[in-house]
Amino acid sequence: MQRRYDFLVIGSGLAGLSYALKVAHQGRVALISKDGLEESNTRYAQGGIASVMYPPDDYEKHIEDTLISGDGLCHRDVVEMVVREAPAQIEALIDWGVEFDKKPDGHYDLGREGGHSYYRVLHHKDNTGEEIQRKLVRQVRNHPQIDLLEQHFAVDLITQHHLGKHVSRQNGDIECYGAYVFNLHTSKVLTLLSKVTVVATGGIGNLYDTTTNPEIATGDGIAMVYRAKGIIENMEFVQFHPTALYEPGVRPAFLITEALRGYGALLRTTDGREFMENYDKRGCLAPRDVVARAIDNEMKKRGDDFVYLDGTHLEAQGLRENFPNIYQKCLSLNIDITKDYIPVTPAAHYSCGGIKVDMNGCSTIGRLYAIGEASCTGLHGANRLASNSLMEAVVYADRAARHSLKQAGQVAYREDIPEWDYSGTTYPEEMVMITQNFKEVHQIMSNYVGIVRSNLRLERALKRLEIIYNETEELYEKSTLSQRLCELRNLINVGYLVIKMAQEMRESRGLHYTLDYPRKKSGREF
Ligand code: FAD
Ligand code: SIN
Repeated sequence: MQRRYDFLVIGSGLAGLSYALKVAHQGRVALISKDGLEESNTRYAQGGIASVMYPPDDYEKHIEDTLISGDGLCHRDVVEMVVREAPAQIEALIDWGVEFDKKPDGHYDLGREGGHSYYRVLHHKDNTGEEIQRKLVRQVRNHPQIDLLEQHFAVDLITQHHLGKHVSRQNGDIECYGAYVFNLHTSKVLTLLSKVTVVATGGIGNLYDTTTNPEIATGDGIAMVYRAKGIIENMEFVQFHPTALYEPGVRPAFLITEALRGYGALLRTTDGREFMENYDKRGCLAPRDVVARAIDNEMKKRGDDFVYLDGTHLEAQGLRENFPNIYQKCLSLNIDITKDYIPVTPAAHYSCGGIKVDMNGCSTIGRLYAIGEASCTGLHGANRLASNSLMEAVVYADRAARHSLKQAGQVAYREDIPEWDYSGTTYPEEMVMITQNFKEVHQIMSNYVGIVRSNLRLERALKRLEIIYNETEELYEKSTLSQRLCELRNLINVGYLVIKMAQEMRESRGLHYTLDYPRKKSGREF
């Protein structure tokens, strides 16, 4: 079955929702989400969204902090643009009903996280993402021009390839005409034709054993664009959040926000010793790559599975009021954060790499945009500054909206697109093969492509992943379509990209740390 839309938006996190709201006055929008609209990485964001608000903070300081965190690989023009455009997009969020905490004097109560030299993180208690998600979902549900396709899974982008034409990554003449979308209720594949398609599918955390990301984060958009022969970059820079709650076997891992360190909490080894000053003079508020590596190093040296985060010296009432969700979650495990240390461990958290886009969110495929975590804009370089991703998502959604409103008026639907080909896919899926391969992918990536890497580990990871790739492609060819099989296939594609790009890096930089190439002399090596 075919349907036509001016704008096809894949993903209902902050990027997809805000884009949809900004184009819907000028055309019909399909907003698709593989789960309910409410589920996304956005929903779990805790710390908040960075934006310069009041003097003495200024754009230059935020730009500088972002560049330092990115370890020399940020694109300065992008950083300047995003930082300067952020305050206007904060206003847009407020207009959509998002509430950020204020102080009694009416000013916003700004938080601070690792790598920020100043207080500039707007937040809603410790559940900022839930507030943003709820308010934006309410807006799209009430919008007459937006068709909501929940439990619809985008399988592949439609390009000339589906018309039997040869396409190549290098030529730059590929165009996107929509997507094949699997209706998870009916098990039928819809052909959604569009003038403009937007990939806003979020991150890749489920490549790893321990992750803060919910189940939806399987790198689908990145894999789809890679298969459609778009350019992907910077995938080696996988950010591990230093402090996820240590709860073995629990997926996703519950995050203990960096804002708690911004509030004064300290990291300690299991024998109670502070250690961050030995690694970086910024201590517990050093950039995330530095803190995660320091924790990893301490855990390995001591043979421990976690370190502690200590907030017991902080005023108890303030802790309970500012971090109510963390307080309640820990209490449910008999940890009273006002009296007890919190066991924490690093967890895969954010992908700095993704679909290469320009400053309007245009990918290297015509009529295709990528925004939010699935994209690689040049903002984050080798290591994202905390709370810069929600900011990037909303700024790029706005830029892509403005650009694509013009584009949609200039193109027509492609008429000759074939329906999904079901032939040869009649074999019932065998869940055990899929589940086992998921586990193997997690193990390969966590053991060989984690916080510390080496040539040998990467080589071994690639060999192991190739075996699983071949098995999975064979299974995909002959099985009936299923969400889990598609997700496995996507994760394998993305894992391959992380490994290959890590192998191409001949240095340790930002989040990519390898034993074979020492870091350049700076304050960041160990
Ligand atoms: P997401 O919010 O992840 O949305 C992706 C959407 O795409 C989902 O709706 C998903 O269902 C859909 N989707 C995916 N694949 C498909 C498919 N094949 N078909 C159809 N739909 C699909 N960043 C900050 O700046 N500040 C923070 O405080 C912060 N805290 C965080 C805390 C946690 C626990 C986590 C996990 C992340 C945090 N981040 C934070 C990062 C930030 O939340 C994300 O980078 C950001 O929300 C990504 O938004 P997005 O719109 O790009 O993607
Ligand atoms: C956190 O609250 O620590 C997460 C912030 C982020 O990932 O930007």
